[in-house]
Amino acid sequence: MFSKFEPTPEDPIIKLVGLFKKDPRPNKIDVGIGVFKDNDGNTPIMESVRLAETRIHETQTTKAYVGLAGDENFNQTMIDLIFGEHDSKDRIRAVQTPGGCGALRLLSDMLFRIASERTIWGSDPTWGNHYPVFRQAGFNVESYPYLNRETKTVKEDEMLSKLSQLGQNDIVLLHGCCHNPSGAELSPSAWEEVADLAAKNGFFPYVDLAYQGFGNSLDQDAQGIRTLMDKVESMVIAASCSKNFGLYRERVGCALMVGKTPGEADLARSNILTVARSSYSMPPDHGAGLVNLIMNTPSLRASWEAELTEMRNRILSLRKQASDVLREKTNSERWDFIEHHRGMFSLLVLSEEQTNALMHEHAVYAVAGGRINIAGLRNDEQLNAFADALISVTS
Ligand code: LMR
Repeated sequence: MFSKFEPTPEDPIIKLVGLFKKDPRPNKIDVGIGVFKDNDGNTPIMESVRLAETRIHETQTTKAYVGLAGDENFNQTMIDLIFGEHDSKDRIRAVQTPGGCGALRLLSDMLFRIASERTIWGSDPTWGNHYPVFRQAGFNVESYPYLNRETKTVKEDEMLSKLSQLGQNDIVLLHGCCHNPSGAELSPSAWEEVADLAAKNGFFPYVDLAYQGFGNSLDQDAQGIRTLMDKVESMVIAASCSKNFGLYRERVGCALMVGKTPGEADLARSNILTVARSSYSMPPDHGAGLVNLIMNTPSLRASWEAELTEMRNRILSLRKQASDVLREKTNSERWDFIEHHRGMFSLLVLSEEQTNALMHEHAVYAVAGGRINIAGLRNDEQLNAFADALISVTS
C-alpha cells in the first residue's frame, strides 16, 4: 500500500531541532525553533503554571469529556484577553483548539466550506507552516509585499498598495504581533489603513496571534486586532498559548470568529464545531484548564503577568545587547534593526550558504533565510560567539 507514496521533505524548522540535538559540539547555539529560553538555556515551566497544575491535580475529580468547544470558561477568557474591554464582544465566538496551529487548520477548513474560491494572501515572508496549512484545507495561496530585505522594516506603502487591489475574493493573513519570521511590526497607523481597506473593499482578515505579550505588552500586542474589530464586519483569529504560558507541548489554542451580528457568529461556531468533530472530536483539556485557572485566580494571574513581563524584558534586553555588540564589533549600524524588532524572531536575510556556514563552521543553528530566535542566546559568552559567527559568514 504505502509504496505508492513519494518521500516528503521534513519541515525545515522541525528538522533543525533534530540536527541541533545530534550535534556533539559543546559550544553549539540554538537560535532555531521558536521556544523561549532563560539565561541557562532552559525552557522552564512557569511558576504560575506549576501552582495551577498542583491545584488541578488536587481538585480535579474526573477525566470525562468536556465538549467539542472545550472549556467555555477558557474560551471566554481568551476573548477577554485578546479584546479587552471592547464593547461589541457579543459578536465574537471562541472555540478551544489543539494549539494555535490547530486553530489555523480548523478556521481554514471552516472558511473553505463557504469561501473555497477565495485566495489566502500571506505576508512575504511568513511562518513556514502557514501555506501548507491553507493548502491542505484546499485554498489557493499568494503573498503580499511585507519585509524590506535591505532595511528589515515593513514596506508599508507597497503592502497597502497591494492590499488596496484585493476584495471580496480574498482573505488576508495578518500577524497580530511579533511577526514570524521577520520580527518587523506593522505600525498602528498601518493597522488602521489595513482595517479601512478591509472594510471598504471586502477582503476578509485572518489573524494569527501566537505571541501576545512577547512584543510590547499584553494590551499593546492585541491593538492591531482591536483596530480591526472597530472597523470590519467579520474576521477570524487563531490564538496560541504555547509561548505566553510556556505550554508548548500541552497544545492550547483558540479559534475566534467575529460575525457581523451575534447570530452570524453563532453560525460560524456551529460550523467550526462540525469541522472539529470530524477532525479530532474534542480538544485536550489539561493546558486550557491551566490557562483558565490562572487567568481567573487573581494571585496566579498576577504571578503569570510578572513572569511574562520578565520573559519579554529578557528578549528586549537581548535585542539591545546583540545590536550593541554587533555595532561595536563591526563599527557599523548594519545590525541595529535587531533592537527595533519585536518578539522572539529577527530575519537576518542570509543566503542558504551563509546559514549553512553558521551551522557547519560555527555550530549556530538558525532557520533558513537567517531567522534567529533571539531568546535562544544564553549568556554573554554565547552572544559574543554568535556575533563573531555572524560577522564571519557575512563579511
Ligand atoms: C516557530 O516558528 O519556530 C514555532 O512557531 C514553532 C513551529 O512549530 O514552527
